[in-house]
Amino acid sequence: MWKFHKWFERHSLILIVGILVVVSIGGLVQITPLFFIESTIERVEGVRPYTPLELAGREIYIREGCYVCHSQMIRPLRDEVERYGHYSLAAESMYDHPFQWGSKRTGPDLARVGNRYSDEWHRAHLVNPRSVVPESVMPPYAFLARADLNTSLLPDHLRANRLLRVPYTDEQLANAATDARAQAEPLSSNAYDFEHRYPGAASRDFDGNPDRVTEMDALIAYLQMLGTGVDFETYQAEAPENTR
Ligand code: HEC
Repeated sequence: MWKFHKWFERHSLILIVGILVVVSIGGLVQITPLFFIESTIERVEGVRPYTPLELAGREIYIREGCYVCHSQMIRPLRDEVERYGHYSLAAESMYDHPFQWGSKRTGPDLARVGNRYSDEWHRAHLVNPRSVVPESVMPPYAFLARADLNTSLLPDHLRANRLLRVPYTDEQLANAATDARAQAEPLSSNAYDFEHRYPGAASRDFDGNPDRVTEMDALIAYLQMLGTGVDFETYQAEAPENTR
């Protein structure tokens, strides 16, 4: 047995071939099963596609480079879980194209920021972060409250997401622009249809200005839903009904 070993160690070419054989076996064991399962993402109750207003808010988040300072992925490490909540699940970003995981954290992780603060807090914070967190180095985004939300591209935006297998219906595509306004105007005549098309989505005047639907409405709607889909009181990792 040891003689055999010596033979490998003394001949670099044989050693290389040996390494390749061992690595290929490892690779086959890991990679082959991936061709036979439908999805590597665990199915999790509560994860839903973004509403048009949230999707618009996500676009603003990307446009303004919020991801440069904020990640959206809680790692399964004790300090992260104690600070932010349950570690992120792959399923939670299955409708994110592209995902916003990131790794740069000048500010805190935002994967579970939804419902942690009030809309008023977010508004004050985005207009002037120093007004609520005196030591903050986050830049102000006051102009978002003055910018009317452009909803004209939303139908195409939903369509692009549908190409990437986000399950939007034809009805949702056709009504994307009105649904975006309706979510921020819960007393409008379209609010009922919106709630019917997106059950469980929060509908309210996010920016505190009932006269207009602004970019601030969209961004706060997006922030307030982050990480709120899965109910971690009842969630069980690796439950058989979650894997397929
Ligand atoms: C230059 C880096 C930087 C950028 C860019 C930035 N932030 Fe921040 N953000 C911070 C820092 C630092 C904090 C922590 C202090 C504070 O709360 O203001 C923070 C805090 C936050 C919080 C509160 C998080 C918590 O758990 O308390 C939210 C929400 C937030 N940012 C959203 C945004 C959004 C939305 C954008 C883009 C429009 C953005 N940030 C852009 C640095 C940044």
